[in-house]
Amino acid sequence: MRELGIGLIGTGFMGRAHALAFNNARAVFELPVQLKLAALADADTERAQRCATAWGFAQAHGDWQALINDPKVDVVAITTPNHLHYPMAMAAIAAGKAVYCEKPLAVSLEQADAMRRAASAAGVVTRVGYNYQHNPMITLARQIIANGELGDIISFQGEFSEDFMADPASPWSWRCEVAHAGGALADLGSHLLSMARYLVGDVVSVCADSHTVHALRPAVKGSNDFKAIAVDDQVHALLRFANGARGTVSSSWLKHGYKNHLSFEISGTKGTLAFDQERLNELRLCRVGQDGFQRLLAGPALPGYAAFSPAAGHQLGYNELKTLEVQELIMAVAGQGADGTDFEAAWEVERLATAIRMAAQEERWVNVNSV
Ligand SMILES: NC(=O)c1ccc[n+]([C@@H]2O[C@H](COP(=O)([O-])OP(=O)(O)OC[C@H]3O[C@@H](n4cnc5c(N)ncnc54)[C@H](O)[C@@H]3O)[C@@H](O)[C@H]2O)c1
Repeated sequence: MRELGIGLIGTGFMGRAHALAFNNARAVFELPVQLKLAALADADTERAQRCATAWGFAQAHGDWQALINDPKVDVVAITTPNHLHYPMAMAAIAAGKAVYCEKPLAVSLEQADAMRRAASAAGVVTRVGYNYQHNPMITLARQIIANGELGDIISFQGEFSEDFMADPASPWSWRCEVAHAGGALADLGSHLLSMARYLVGDVVSVCADSHTVHALRPAVKGSNDFKAIAVDDQVHALLRFANGARGTVSSSWLKHGYKNHLSFEISGTKGTLAFDQERLNELRLCRVGQDGFQRLLAGPALPGYAAFSPAAGHQLGYNELKTLEVQELIMAVAGQGADGTDFEAAWEVERLATAIRMAAQEERWVNVNSV
C-alpha cells in the first residue's frame, strides 16, 4: 500500500486537534494509503520535540521550511496563526505538496487569490479546516435541502458567537491584529460564512455593521500596559443569496454564555431546519403541517457516524469532526475525495468576508462579485 507522509506545523489548539485526527483517522477508517506521521514543526524547538514524541511523529523541526523540504512529507498541515498561512502554503505548493490549512485561508483577499491560483497551477490537493461541515448532521441537512423537503429556501439566519473575549481584561493576542486577520468575523464568522455557502449557495450582495466594543486590551494578562484594538468584536450582516433567499449572519466573541454557538435556521416554503453546534448531534426539523419541531438525532445510518459508534444517540464530538475532515483530505489526495473545502472555495469565503467588511466601512450594500 502506498505510504503518505504527514507533516504538521504548529502545536497549539489546532496542532493538537490535527495530530489527534491523523492518529484517529488511520485507526478508524480503512484508508487507501498508509498514513505515516513523518514530521512536526514548531517555532519552539523543545515543544516540537516533546509533542512529536507524544503524538507519534517521527521527526521534530524548529524550522517549518525544513519540514516542507523533508522528502518524507507529502501533505503539509498548517495550524499556525493566520498571517503564517500564506508563506507556509505557498512554500508547500512550490514543493508540490498537498496542503491542509487552517481557516481563515489568509489575511487578505490578495493573498487568498494568490494561494488558490498557485494551487491550481501546481495541481496539488488543498483543503481548509472548515471542520463543522463534516458533521454527519450537516450532511443530512444538506440532503434535506437538496431533496426539496424544505421547498424553496427563503431565509438563512446564522450566528457564530463565543465569549472568550467578553472580559475586557482578556489580553491582546494575534487574534486582535488586523495584519494577522484578527477579529470575530475572521475567527468565528468565517466558519459561518462557509456553512451558509455550503448549505444555501452563493451570496450576491451584503450590507453590514462592524463594532469594536473594547478598544483597549492589556498587552499581556494582568498588565497595565494597554494595546489599541482595531478589529471587530461583533459583526451583523444582511445577505442576499443567488437563489433569491435572504439572510442574516452575526458573529461575536463577546457574547456571554456561548462557547461554540455556530447556529442557523434555514426556512423554506415547506419547512424549517435548525442547528446549533453546541448540540452538534441534533437537527430540529419542522415540515409544513407539523405543530412544531421534530428532533433528529445522529446515528450510524448517517455516513461517517458508524465509524465511531454502532449506537444512535451516543454522540460525536469536535475531534470526530476533525477526523472526518482528515479522512476526506486523505481520500482527496488518493484521488477519491470530492466534498472538502479547497482553496478555491475558501477564497470565496474570504471574498464574502471582505465584502462584509467593505459594506460595514462604507455603510452601503456591496455586490460580492465586485470585490
Ligand atoms: N477549525 C477550527 O475549528 C479552528 C479552531 C481554532 C483555531 N483555528 C485556526 O487554527 C490556527 C491556529 O490557531 P490556534 O488556536 O491553534 O493557535 P495557537 O496559538 O494555539 O497555536 C499556534 C501554534 O503555531 C506555532 N507557531 C507560531 N509561529 C510559528 C512559526 N513561525 N513556525 C512554526 N510554528 C509556529 C505556535 O508555537 C503554536 O504552537 C488559526 O489559523 C486559527 O484560526 C481553527
